[in-house]
Amino acid sequence: MSKQRIDRFLSNQSGISRSEVRTGIKRGLAVVNGETVRDFSYPIDPDNDAVFYNGVQVKYKEFIYIMLNKPAGVISASSDRRQKTVLDLVPDNMFRRELSVVGRLDKDTTGLILITDDGEFAHKCISPKSNIEKSYIAELDGDLQNSIIEKFSNGIVLADGYCCKPAEIEIIDKRRARVVITEGKYHQIKRMFGAVGLGVNKLHRERIGELSLPENLLPGECAEIDKKVINSLI
Ligand code: URA
Repeated sequence: MSKQRIDRFLSNQSGISRSEVRTGIKRGLAVVNGETVRDFSYPIDPDNDAVFYNGVQVKYKEFIYIMLNKPAGVISASSDRRQKTVLDLVPDNMFRRELSVVGRLDKDTTGLILITDDGEFAHKCISPKSNIEKSYIAELDGDLQNSIIEKFSNGIVLADGYCCKPAEIEIIDKRRARVVITEGKYHQIKRMFGAVGLGVNKLHRERIGELSLPENLLPGECAEIDKKVINSLI
């Protein structure tokens, strides 16, 4: 990889603004291969130089992939003037300026949501052509009947006439079900249950493709995902 100015490298990899990085470099916070660098145009080799900023090593990664255990009450938008967004929950050490949310969960839906600065991956992940499974646990306001299994596997017709792709449903108990879909229409799960006369009291996404929420990732917490896992998703 070609050399890059240190201010650009640090800003791109950390999400800290270029001007803040420059101030830090002037104050002696940048160290390259053991030497303090105060020139913010200093060229570094991202693959081979050991770059530290404020005592923390900054390693080059083209893109970052993050999973968040979304809590209820947070919106899936990238920014909002009044409401807390999922990007507000990304810790500083994972933050980059180009981050965006992959798909949407409703404000009251909890569970697995992906965040990345890799636009091509995000696009593939949400495209219905990719056929990536998304698995949800739904808590309902009425009792489930076995007949719902066939209705979901035939493709539920929503109130606006849209015919959903076949979905798998597993009845966990009288009022709880696991549903697996491969598309992501607006409020899809709630509207699918609505079409059979059931309301959704709680909705939680537990899995996207092969990627499940780890049990130790608490609501509101993020974890970085390895590129190999990402490659296996799409
Ligand atoms: N389906 C819904 O109805 N809501 C979500 O948040 C996700 C899927």
